[in-house]
Amino acid sequence: MAGWLNLEGKGALVVGGGGLGGATARSLAEAGARTVVVDRDEGALEAVAQAAADSGAELATLHADVSTPDACRAVVARCVDMVGTPRAFLHAVGRNDRRPVLELGDDDWEAILRLNLSTAWWLGQEVGRRMVAEGAGRIVFVSSVSALLAHPDHAPYAASKGGINQMMRVMAREWAPHGVTVNAVGPGYIETDLTRAYLDRDGHREALESLVPAGRLGAPEEIADAATFLLSDRAGFVTGQCLYVDGGRTLV
Ligand SMILES: NC(=O)c1ccc[n+]([C@@H]2O[C@H](COP(=O)([O-])OP(=O)(O)OC[C@H]3O[C@@H](n4cnc5c(N)ncnc54)[C@H](O)[C@@H]3O)[C@@H](O)[C@H]2O)c1
Repeated sequence: MAGWLNLEGKGALVVGGGGLGGATARSLAEAGARTVVVDRDEGALEAVAQAAADSGAELATLHADVSTPDACRAVVARCVDMVGTPRAFLHAVGRNDRRPVLELGDDDWEAILRLNLSTAWWLGQEVGRRMVAEGAGRIVFVSSVSALLAHPDHAPYAASKGGINQMMRVMAREWAPHGVTVNAVGPGYIETDLTRAYLDRDGHREALESLVPAGRLGAPEEIADAATFLLSDRAGFVTGQCLYVDGGRTLV
């Protein structure tokens, strides 16, 4: 499997080492990529490094908060120092604020848009600039089924994920002539730290499962498999796509 992906020895940058970013970082490291994982939570970084070590892989961690353009550029520069211009970049930071439109203030809107979309722009632009100069690279953003569906209490989140998909498509078009592919994965309902507390409350888990044709929630490793494929040599002619990994949720 690792040889098939041809990631051996290549630099990889994963920003966001939580459930989905962490699983993908581990998958990239297991495929032999020299992987750097960035998170503002040291506990998350330790957990990813330990999980990689448990499966016999190694990765480097970088403790940083990516909430500003300068911080994003500094993270990319530091990654380049560590492993060279990354061949693979995954953006996997984001959060939701589950409240109705009429209960959200200006700051709430801006906070979600900044974390979910602006950091993708700052990091994607900086990584893309370097990949274009090298004539090679793979970028994947973590979108969501919320890019397509109108879930109540998801307005800023849905806007940020719809924005990710269109930003991704324009980057893909501009950078295709330079050997750089840009795609997204759109997870359905996946159990991670982001969603666990919500799922454990008030029958939410059963309610969500009933909306998924496959009849179950997804696992972080199922997102990691799709992201790893899109970040590998095997996906060289795939660009501008959002690959929904959702057990059929967007079919109904
Ligand atoms: N879990 C799901 O069901 C699901 C579904 C669809 C989309 N997504 C998307 O997947 C992405 C990753 O989500 P997850 O489920 O892995 O969540 P998570 O909470 O497990 O991980 C997110 C990580 O981002 C880090 N982070 C947050 N702000 C940061 C900052 N300013 N600087 C550095 N690190 C920061 C957090 O510390 C955390 O480790 C998000 O964009 C989310 O919207 C998740």
